[in-house]
Amino acid sequence: MSASIKKIAVAAVLALAAWFGSGALGFPHVFQAMFVAYVALGLAVFLLLDAPPMPRLSGWAAVAALLGFYLVLSVMYIGGASSWPQYDPEVEKGKIEKILKRKRVVVLAEQGRVETMLQRVQALQENSQTVMTRLGRFAPSVQVAEAPQNQGALTVVERGAEVYDLYECYNCHKIGGKGSVKKRGPILDNIGSLLTVNDIKQKIFDPTYLYAEGFEKEHKKGRMPDKYKELMTEEEVLALATYLSTLKDPTAETPKPVFVKANVEHGFTVFGYVREPSGRGLPGAEVHAMPRVKGGHGASGKTNESGYYEIFLHMHNENAGATVDVSAQGVKKTFVADYDPSDTITRRQQSLDLTVAAQ
Ligand code: HEC
Repeated sequence: MSASIKKIAVAAVLALAAWFGSGALGFPHVFQAMFVAYVALGLAVFLLLDAPPMPRLSGWAAVAALLGFYLVLSVMYIGGASSWPQYDPEVEKGKIEKILKRKRVVVLAEQGRVETMLQRVQALQENSQTVMTRLGRFAPSVQVAEAPQNQGALTVVERGAEVYDLYECYNCHKIGGKGSVKKRGPILDNIGSLLTVNDIKQKIFDPTYLYAEGFEKEHKKGRMPDKYKELMTEEEVLALATYLSTLKDPTAETPKPVFVKANVEHGFTVFGYVREPSGRGLPGAEVHAMPRVKGGHGASGKTNESGYYEIFLHMHNENAGATVDVSAQGVKKTFVADYDPSDTITRRQQSLDLTVAAQ
């Protein structure tokens, strides 16, 4: 009996050493648990050595005992192995396929470009031939092949949705009802109404930059990974932020961002998209914002290639509650800048999208 107690004590020490030792070496929890399980297995074997010998079995009883033993071992082995976390090879394959698809699209586009160039060269050759043989005769009109549509190329927003999937933001966030079932992080369906593209970018690269209201605890624990700055390219983070900035569903419960690092500026930012009726963002459109206050002055901005604009207005505490007109290409919208002058935490900003006539 005392021998067993000694063995259990030794095993307990070994288990602790295995857990903390492997933890210090940076093994994930699954592996730590596995090492502890090995110690437990060893303990079981050593305890068996102390067990009183079994009565001798023979005949059918021996066969039954052997089969029973085999059955127990099989159940333990298969059950144990399948209770560890599993990787679904199909999911992993899907991810690789996605990365490859993007590469393939680039290669195909490249190929398309080379082909167009070859066609041009051929056309030029024909052209020079006709010039040479042109002796007062009719020269056949030369047609330069038009560049084929760059099919397969994604828009910035589509690319951003892909980046969102690739980096598995859905593990903690929900968009359109899809994603994290355990509510690890906020729903993002209305994030475009709350954050500018630049602020979304900053949040992804530095999760301490701001936190979602109601998620203070998760924020303090650093739940959102801060690895994206090392992993993402500038193109990826811009596409991702652009995609998220188009999500404006006011019925969604996306929590308000609270800025930790930046002071609230004494100004007001208007941001959003100018779109054609088809929903496509309109690049290069001039947008003008004007607060209706005495002596106030307006400001302008231009949309980028996704149709996104940002305008910074010089508005002061006493301008709170002022009406602001925003216009682009003859289309005007109005909103009330109703910030609380004593609130030094909430950003003074308004998202506003405009739809203008087709170009
Ligand atoms: C492991 C979980 C986890 C992953 C993965 C994760 N986030 Fe988060 N995220 C959180 C949590 C928790 C919060 C709320 C606390 C905070 O703001 O720090 C949050 C907050 C946010 C916010 C602010 C939301 C608001 O309402 O203010 C944005 C934007 C965001 N995440 C974007 C992303 C993007 C984009 C990715 C993928 C590149 C991502 N997150 C990956 C956990 C995660």
